[in-house]
This record gives sequence, C-alpha cells and structure tokens, in this order.
Amino acid sequence: MLVLGIETSCDETAAAIVRDGREILSNVIHSQIKTHTPYGGVVPELASREHLLKIRPIVDQAFKDAGVTLDQIDGIAATSGPGLIGSLLVGLTYAKALAFAKNKPLVAVNHIEGHIYSVVFEHTDVAFPALALVVSGGHTNLFWVESETGDFRHLKYKLVGRTRDDAAGEAYDKVGKLLGLSYPAGPVIDRLAKFGDRNAVPFSIAKISDGSLDFSFSGIKTAVLRLVKSEKLEPRNEEETRKDQRRLDLLASFQEAIVNMLWATTERAALELEPRSLLLSGGVAANSRLREVLTEKAAGAALRFHYPRLIFTTDNAAMIAAAGTAHLLRGETADLTVNPDPNMRLAVPQNNILSKRWRN
Ligand code: KG4
Ligand code: ZN
Repeated sequence: MLVLGIETSCDETAAAIVRDGREILSNVIHSQIKTHTPYGGVVPELASREHLLKIRPIVDQAFKDAGVTLDQIDGIAATSGPGLIGSLLVGLTYAKALAFAKNKPLVAVNHIEGHIYSVVFEHTDVAFPALALVVSGGHTNLFWVESETGDFRHLKYKLVGRTRDDAAGEAYDKVGKLLGLSYPAGPVIDRLAKFGDRNAVPFSIAKISDGSLDFSFSGIKTAVLRLVKSEKLEPRNEEETRKDQRRLDLLASFQEAIVNMLWATTERAALELEPRSLLLSGGVAANSRLREVLTEKAAGAALRFHYPRLIFTTDNAAMIAAAGTAHLLRGETADLTVNPDPNMRLAVPQNNILSKRWRN
C-alpha cells in the first residue's frame, strides 16, 4: 500500500511517500526557519503564504524521489490539526484537491499521532502498551498507547499527562530568546549546554501538587528571566555565548532541569501504569541530553526505550503517511468536506489516571 503524506501544520512544508506504513520511499521537507528567524518565532501569516508557494513543488519532488506517480498511490494523508489554521488549510486543501481529482481515499491525520508514528514506523519491535512522551514546540503530552493488533496498525490513546502552561520546546525557545539566541533555540541550547556545568545553577523542579501527571515549564522560564535581570545579562548570539562560562553554565543547568522534570513525571507514570516500553518523539526528542538521560533511566527501570532518527524528530510528512496508512487499513477515511481543526485532540484528559481501573 502506497500512501502520500502531507504536513503543513506549522513552519515545515513536507511531503513523503511511504509503502505499507514502514518503508520510506521519499521524504521531502522545506523548512521556513529562515523566514521566521528575524521575528524570533513563527509568524502565522508568513507561514501560510510560504506553504502556498511550496506545497506543489514539494509534493512533486516527493513523487520524483520515490519514482512513483499519483495514479499508483492508494491514499492521501494530510495533517488536519492541531496547528496553525492558515498553515493546516494549505496542506489539507491540497490533499483534498488531489483526492478529488484522482478519486483517491483521503485520510485526515492528527499531528500528534504523527509524532508517535515517527517512532513506531521504524521500530518493528515496540512492545505495547507503551508510554509515549511527545515533546515539541507546541506540545508536551504523555500518552498511554495500546495496540489492538499488537503492532502499529491499530493504536489507541489515553492522555495521561500534559503541560499546564508552556510546552518544553517553547521553554527552550523563550529562554533562548531572553538570552539573545536565534530561533528555534532548542538546537542552539543543546549545542552550547555541552560546554556548561549542569549543576552550576540549582533550578527547582516544578511539582504539580494535585498528584496528577501533568508538567509545568513556565516556572523555570521565569527563574531564568529573574537571573537574566539580576545578573544584567544582555542578549548574546551563539558565538559570543560560547566564550561566556556563566551563560554556558546557566544553559546547561536549565537543560538539566527540563530533562529532569520530563523524566520525573514519566517515571511516576511508568511506576503506576507499568507500560512495556517508553516512546519519545517530537522536536525536543532531538535533544542529546534528553536522549542520553532517558536511555539510562529507562534501562534502570527495565523499560524498552525507542526514539526516532534525528530527521524524524521535527515535523515531517513520513510520520503523517505512516499514521495515515494505519487509518486507511482500518477503512477510516475522511470526507472531502473535512476541515482543519487547530485545537484537535488525540485523547481527552483522564481524571482518575492513577487508578489502574481506567485502563480497562
Ligand atoms: O515537533 P516540532 O518540529 O514542531 C512542533 O510540532 O512544535 O518541534 C519544534 C521544537 C522547537 O521548540 C525547537 O526549539 C525544539 O523542537 N527542538 C529542540 C531541539 N531540536 C528542536 N529542543 C531541544 N533540543 C534540541 N536539539
Ligand atoms: Zn510537531
């Protein structure tokens, strides 16, 4: 089964062709980072305009790279939410037009489910039920993932925990901006933190007092802001920061706190719910320290741990095609009247999450 995937939920215009939900025949990504960097974040209006310019050449390129034609495709999967409404509209409308013109089935894919598929499509040995930590610029969610079929073809999700305020990637981007680093700051901080002392600044780890498995990252952002003010730190770019040990220590300590917060909640969830594996995905899954710590901690907790290859951590269409394939195999197609939903949910929050009864 050949599926074309289209992803335009934020600032990447992406198209991919995937066979049987696993084999990637092509994976084309146009990143708009250069357009948005001068503004320190994604400008929605500019994003939609650039998607409009790029969608056709990017999809054409995906076909060319794969060596297949639209006629050979069995279905078209496009992200329908969550994301920026204008951006989502471009990709979904293009997918609808292709589906209509060629009478092909259309699948509307949840972007977050796509991120989960970025791990499972490459790892044939994922053991379910799994805990999936999705950490990106827009989301920080912990899901309980069960498989009806024992493999990737039919996954079901329950929301175990989520951020109460900022997403983890957003915290990276905001702290980077405070210190003068370019957008997106996550990869920059990842590089710089390697030269700093992780224990130099004792950031307190946020604890949600109601016993839930939620996250909170706004406190640490405020702590960094206070430090920036009290130490009168002016904006410095990556090169200048590299020569300033205090800043390197600050960044390394900030990163350590984020990683520890992510693991602290994930560990609690793992102890309560006893999953068979842990899946990490989303843009922040590219973080070298997060990968390192989770690898070590998961091994200590006897949890199998999987994360995507670097190219599949940030937004891409291969993950959308893979998730779309699973839906298509189950006959879950979308009507041509489907609209994007900027606030689309993969699962609703679970109230009695710490009671094992909810699993059944
Ligand atoms: O998944 P993604 O491409 O887009 C969303 O769906 O949000 O994630 C982008 C986010 C940005 O906040 C970026 O700073 C962060 O992922 N990011 C990283 C790293 N690479 C990307 N954060 C920490 N370390 C990295 N190496
Ligand atoms: Zn994403």
